[in-house]
Amino acid sequence: MISSNPSSIAPGAPDELGWTLDRHILERQRHIPGASGDFTGLFQSIALAGRVIASRVAKAGLADVLGATGVVNVQGETVQKLDTLANNVLVRCVEAGGHVCVMASEENDEIIPVPPAYPKGKYVLMFDPLDGSSNIDVNVSIGTIFSIHRRVTAAGPGTEADCLQAGTEQVAAGYIIYGSSTMLVYSTGDGVHGFTLDPLVGEFFLSHENIRIPARGATYSINEGNRMHWTPGVTAWIDTLKSERAPGGKPYGLRYVGTLVADFHRTLLRGGVFAYPGDRKSPDGKLRLLYECAPMAFLAEAAGGAASTGAGRVLEVVPGGLHQRVPLFIGSKDDVADAVRFVQDGAAPGT
Ligand code: AHG
Ligand code: MN
Ligand code: MN
Repeated sequence: MISSNPSSIAPGAPDELGWTLDRHILERQRHIPGASGDFTGLFQSIALAGRVIASRVAKAGLADVLGATGVVNVQGETVQKLDTLANNVLVRCVEAGGHVCVMASEENDEIIPVPPAYPKGKYVLMFDPLDGSSNIDVNVSIGTIFSIHRRVTAAGPGTEADCLQAGTEQVAAGYIIYGSSTMLVYSTGDGVHGFTLDPLVGEFFLSHENIRIPARGATYSINEGNRMHWTPGVTAWIDTLKSERAPGGKPYGLRYVGTLVADFHRTLLRGGVFAYPGDRKSPDGKLRLLYECAPMAFLAEAAGGAASTGAGRVLEVVPGGLHQRVPLFIGSKDDVADAVRFVQDGAAPGT
């Protein structure tokens, strides 16, 4: 247990057992008047999918899941075998539970309907089934990101309108990181909590309760290979962080995994800032609002951090399409505020 006191969740904390993810969610749902158990059920399905994907990832080199499928997805990216596997596992784990009315995935052009045979629930699930595809074949951390909304349509099969909601409307968001250990980190807006998978038991146990992002960090995380395309504001910002003009008077360190989940996880625990800015080549950046930016922004804010597009709060962007991209500056509150100042001034502020 990394922080604080699990007995703060509820009386009768299961000391010998520890807090399983299921029990953590159940205890919290009990305090919500009128909770039907749907949310708990949906979460159990997502956690099951995470455990299945984790087990495939752990033996990827033996299980014939490395490499590309030969298909190019709606994002224009080559689909890896593990992208497809993770996508299918998530859909199959969730579709029959009766908790969602529709899903959407980074890997599918259109919304994913719930098959007619299954009941339609009140939630909407959107996900990036496998984040960090370029790291799959080289045994570097990868992840899954998810975002949960309440449906806005009245009943029956969900529609695209249920998916195109601002991030402020999320009821929960989280990710699973397949790293040196597998962790599930989630928030319902009330704290951010991390659970570590015990692979022998096959269960997630609370390991990081109520994670808070430090107000300022000492690392920046950006793909510097794109520097030639950057706007003057981004260039001036990064140059400042790499100099003695950086906050604290000494240069920030650079950390960049190339898997948003891993880069965000480090930033969440240690502070600092991750950026995938818009640039002259790609004004909206690379990362997808619904499957990547909005869920991570929800977690960042719930942990006391911030997430901006450079023009405003990520969570307030109303999506115009399922696969919309937005620039992302996310992490420690003060570091994100600096980035926004530089981006908006177009160069070093005050110069
Ligand atoms: P995905 O594998 O889901 O397509 O996402 C990859 C994303 C994200 O994980 C990461 O932050 C970013 O792409 C890295 O992009 P670059 O290789 O351009 O740095
Ligand atoms: Mn991704
Ligand atoms: Mn992906």
